[in-house]
Amino acid sequence: MPSDLFSLQGRTALITGGSRGIGRMIAAGFLAQGAKVYISSRKAAACDSTAAELSAGGGRCVSLPQDVSTVEGCRALAAAYSQHEPRLDILVNNAGAAWLAEFDAFPENGWDKVVDLNLKSPFFLTQALAPALRAAGTKERPAKVINVASIDGIRPNPQETYSYQASKAGLIHLTRRMAARLIEENICVNAIAPGAFASEMNRTARDQAARISAKKRAMFFLLRRVGSSDWSELNEGPREVLWATTHRSLCSGSDQVGWGPSNCARKNRPRRRCPGAIGRRVRD
Ligand SMILES: NC(=O)c1ccc[n+]([C@@H]2O[C@H](COP(=O)([O-])OP(=O)(O)OC[C@H]3O[C@@H](n4cnc5c(N)ncnc54)[C@H](OP(=O)(O)O)[C@@H]3O)[C@@H](O)[C@H]2O)c1
Repeated sequence: MPSDLFSLQGRTALITGGSRGIGRMIAAGFLAQGAKVYISSRKAAACDSTAAELSAGGGRCVSLPQDVSTVEGCRALAAAYSQHEPRLDILVNNAGAAWLAEFDAFPENGWDKVVDLNLKSPFFLTQALAPALRAAGTKERPAKVINVASIDGIRPNPQETYSYQASKAGLIHLTRRMAARLIEENICVNAIAPGAFASEMNRTARDQAARISAKKRAMFFLLRRVGSSDWSELNEGPREVLWATTHRSLCSGSDQVGWGPSNCARKNRPRRRCPGAIGRRVRD
């Protein structure tokens, strides 16, 4: 296997919600593969400090703090990015929020906050950054948009996170629709759908993992993960994202379920995940 299979040398990436959790992991993985990485989040101090920490590892990570839950915020981030770079190879729409409340008490602001950030923002940020993505994408090496959805957008989770689950299901379908349009301009749009992941957002996974048995976890999260059931191994790296990002075996309009060490190694997986009705394989 060629050693540069996942190389991102010479490419630029922008990751929303890159200050912690899954976004930070994706940033670290991209930097390790040679990309120049821009991260964004609301809290400037946290974003700056993550960028400094990640840059200390040898790559170049730049902080661009911004709330992207509004159209104005998306445009402001695109404008800030354009001060640094004329082209954008990879956009990862990762910033997300959840809201848990019982059915009878679920508030309107629990819908608005979650749907604005998880579903509306990926569309409007991609729209605002489309000129930079078009400038980077070629037929041989399209630009990439990766939407971070969730397993909760595919199968119902028993937790009462109504707006979250609906937003992620919507994001998966939005990914297919955007992919069908943007492939015309050499921009691939794909989604990944991680399973439960220990983070600030998923405190159940973070704080109670030890007392939930593997079987109960699988039932509770309706999760069947390929690979290890040891949650600590999930911190190994954003391999699904790298797969969807690098220039080989490309497709557009697909969603990648799970996040485990063996997911990418499964034979013929890319082909199986690209049914071609809307998403289509671009090239090997
Ligand atoms: N953890 C899981 O189990 C899991 C499973 C499946 C999918 N996901 C998805 O993965 C993504 C990342 O989740 P995570 O678990 O890593 O969450 P997290 O640890 O809570 O991180 C969320 C990130 O988004 C940023 N953010 C939040 N609101 C924002 C806004 N309005 N504008 C800009 N940035 C904002 C946060 O920084 P600030 O607070 O400073 O803004 C932070 O950097 C989300 O889309 C989530 O739905 C997570």
